[in-house]
Amino acid sequence: MKYQFNDNFLWGAASSGPQSEGTFPGDGKAETEWDYWFKQVPEQFFDGVGPSVTSDFYHKYKEYVKLMKEIGMNSYRTSIQWSRIFKDREGTVNEEGVTFYQAVIDELLREGIEPVLCLHHFDMPMYWMEKGGFENRETAEGFAAFAAKCFELFGGKVKRWITFNEPIVIAEGGYIYKRHYPAVCDAKKAALVGYHIQLASSMAVREFRKSGREGSIGIVLNLTPTYCKDPDNEEDRRSAEIADLLFNKSFLDPSIRGEYPEKLVKLLKEEGICPEAAEEDLEIIRNNTVDFLGVNYYHPRRVTRRSTPYDGPLMPEKYFEEYTFEGQKMNFSRGWEIYEPAIYEIAVNLRDHYGNIPWYISENGMGVQDEEQFLDRNGIVEDDYRIEFIRDHLIWLNKAIGEGCNCFGYHLWAPFDCWSWRNAYKNRYGMIRVDIKNGGALSIKKSGRWFKQVTEDHGFC
Ligand code: NOJ
Repeated sequence: MKYQFNDNFLWGAASSGPQSEGTFPGDGKAETEWDYWFKQVPEQFFDGVGPSVTSDFYHKYKEYVKLMKEIGMNSYRTSIQWSRIFKDREGTVNEEGVTFYQAVIDELLREGIEPVLCLHHFDMPMYWMEKGGFENRETAEGFAAFAAKCFELFGGKVKRWITFNEPIVIAEGGYIYKRHYPAVCDAKKAALVGYHIQLASSMAVREFRKSGREGSIGIVLNLTPTYCKDPDNEEDRRSAEIADLLFNKSFLDPSIRGEYPEKLVKLLKEEGICPEAAEEDLEIIRNNTVDFLGVNYYHPRRVTRRSTPYDGPLMPEKYFEEYTFEGQKMNFSRGWEIYEPAIYEIAVNLRDHYGNIPWYISENGMGVQDEEQFLDRNGIVEDDYRIEFIRDHLIWLNKAIGEGCNCFGYHLWAPFDCWSWRNAYKNRYGMIRVDIKNGGALSIKKSGRWFKQVTEDHGFC
């Protein structure tokens, strides 16, 4: 086998509660920011499709798990919805929600699939959003209480936990770029939200250790390796450094090293947006670093210095412009650059600058619009482009592992087509097709069969 991975390598895929389960209102689940936002502006969601049904994992989880097994997955990440476990801020438990997650965990274990559970995947309950969400420190305390409850309820069977998925997206998406609720543009709020999320994550790590449960706890960060156009130009290098500080190191450093980079603090102070941090909170961050890291990698960031002064509202953009160049390899339908060597560079960076912490690829994948065009005569999606995408990334990952990088797994986004926020079902990512127009019928795509072979062989040629 030319590209061999070890026998314990985690092979799998990831999804999340709000993107797969459906059912709001119903079964005691409280409203999240997404349920609420969809009610306000349904026209801003692709094809007017909201979060209430999604892929109906809530009712069809057995069918899904069976297919996950068939495509060779030995692990599956999803998230527990806070709004399904706690009905309110006081933490009144929704028994139906508990029963549901117990059943999913049992089903996965029965099929030999390890559940990796995340505690927050963009799904703030409205009862906390009403209090300002993560603008309010109390929400971090509320999150820690929810995390503690999950360790108590499910910690006997679940051995790998994740505090947050892509926390930077909550801050920039909701408070700078208006892609997520509450869709405001206020860099000071974004910085405060980011800081409180870090605090909440560290508090959850502390709860996990207090619980005495076996296993490990990590965080999932979307890393965007940043390249400047002209490495010989100092201003260009500086623009890449700032993008890296804001979008990567802002969570990497406190989560793994327990402290913020000095340069980031200085930048936020110069901007007048640095949150005031109580010494005791910084101590919580310092003392509760993660056991492992999940890395979501999709595309790099290409930046150059601003050619003209910027006086728009988007604080980060003041420092750089993104650019594209001729010959850049792009995902043919999503418009994201495909650059596989970045996965190797992420690995080397973690090895050399973050103590070679154990980590895995928690998401990587290819979103494709109108995937029906690739259906063959038997109704199977012939997604050779996805196979090529996964393969090419795994080759670089394999090289990194061969050079001592501590990567223990690879998860694709996603096992099955799922709902993607405002893009709803526009871009399909799954190895299992969900035929939304035909009652959600499920079928394995060509990539699913290929993936199974890779997992059986622990690699490929
Ligand atoms: C990252 C997020 O974690 C997930 O929620 C999203 O759907 C995928 N990327 C695809 O864009």
